[in-house]
Amino acid sequence: MNILQGILWLVTSMGVGTVIRVEHLKKYFPITHGFIRKKIIWLKAVDDVSFEIKDGETFGLVGESGSGKSTTGRTILRLYEPTGGKVYFNDIEVTALSKQELKELRPKMQIIYQDPYSSLNPRLTIFDIIAEPLREYGHENVEDTVLELLEAVGLSEEHAKKYPDEISGGQCQRVAIARALALNPEFLVLDEPTSALDVSVQAQVLNLLGRLQKERNLTYLFISHDLGVVRYLADRVGVMYLGKLVEIGTIEQVFDNPAHPYTRMLLSSIPVPDPKARAIRKEKVIGEIPSPLHPPSGCRFHTRCPYAREICRKEEPAMIELEKGHFVRCHFVGELQ
Ligand SMILES: Nc1ncnc2c1ncn2[C@@H]1O[C@H](COP(=O)(O)OP(=O)(O)OP(=O)(O)O)[C@@H](O)[C@H]1O
Ligand SMILES: [Mg+2]
Repeated sequence: MNILQGILWLVTSMGVGTVIRVEHLKKYFPITHGFIRKKIIWLKAVDDVSFEIKDGETFGLVGESGSGKSTTGRTILRLYEPTGGKVYFNDIEVTALSKQELKELRPKMQIIYQDPYSSLNPRLTIFDIIAEPLREYGHENVEDTVLELLEAVGLSEEHAKKYPDEISGGQCQRVAIARALALNPEFLVLDEPTSALDVSVQAQVLNLLGRLQKERNLTYLFISHDLGVVRYLADRVGVMYLGKLVEIGTIEQVFDNPAHPYTRMLLSSIPVPDPKARAIRKEKVIGEIPSPLHPPSGCRFHTRCPYAREICRKEEPAMIELEKGHFVRCHFVGELQ
């Protein structure tokens, strides 16, 4: 073995570190029914979800509205307490931390929300919005750091004195990003970070997020219903349907060779420039997503699946690894054309 082979062996045998590991995560919301005899029904927003995000990677989470993407992101950060399952951040079990321990870890794991205006305090100046976490965690040189952060997100000193309603939506989102970066996080949940912005501004903010990721070695969970954006930005992707992950793989595996009928259905609704891919994505979008309060039995997708058979109504399919790193939850995965 020469030196180069030796280094290559070392790198591949160590593998890339895992920053986030989600194991059988569940988040059920109690919904009360009835006035006199109150009855609680559990809405299973996230129901046994497992996946990993590697160091420096962008993991896209896609699925129709209500499939549980935001709840997954917030439960990973323990902004919602999980109903079950475990979350690890660099081998620290986030789900086992006390309130105080969680507060100490919080700077490392941050979230950017969809609507920049409602996620920023309207009564604070941009300076104070970004300075707030620095002060809370006893940071020195608050002023210099705020100015550096403003510059890092493409804003300048003159924005510092303004209030959120005096700047544009795109600038507000840059402020939210600067604030999230203030305490040097390693992991960011980006929950539809550009879908409330004008199309012309979306690309600028996405480019900024891409640049910051490289400069600061950030790991992203990128939540979006915009499959085009996910394809452009993510390394791997998970497809959610009614609280379950139905397919996981690299962008190439999932977008060029979608295995789950639901993934094919989702992909059929976006324009595809590649003719080879178009041949695969022939599923039409059928019906509406059922209520998560009463999810279908067996495979939750069976009510909309053109291939559904008896077993799909009765048994929930297991997650199978089709090829290395490409997972799918379907009884008939090998048989679908
Ligand atoms: N705090 C809550 N209390 C009760 N139900 C909730 C709560 N938050 C979310 N839900 C329900 O959980 C399910 C999943 O919601 P979630 O917001 O995670 O979906 P999503 O995939 O992010 O959708 P969207 O694309 O619209 O943002 C939905 O049925 C939603 O109504
Ligand atoms: Mg959401």
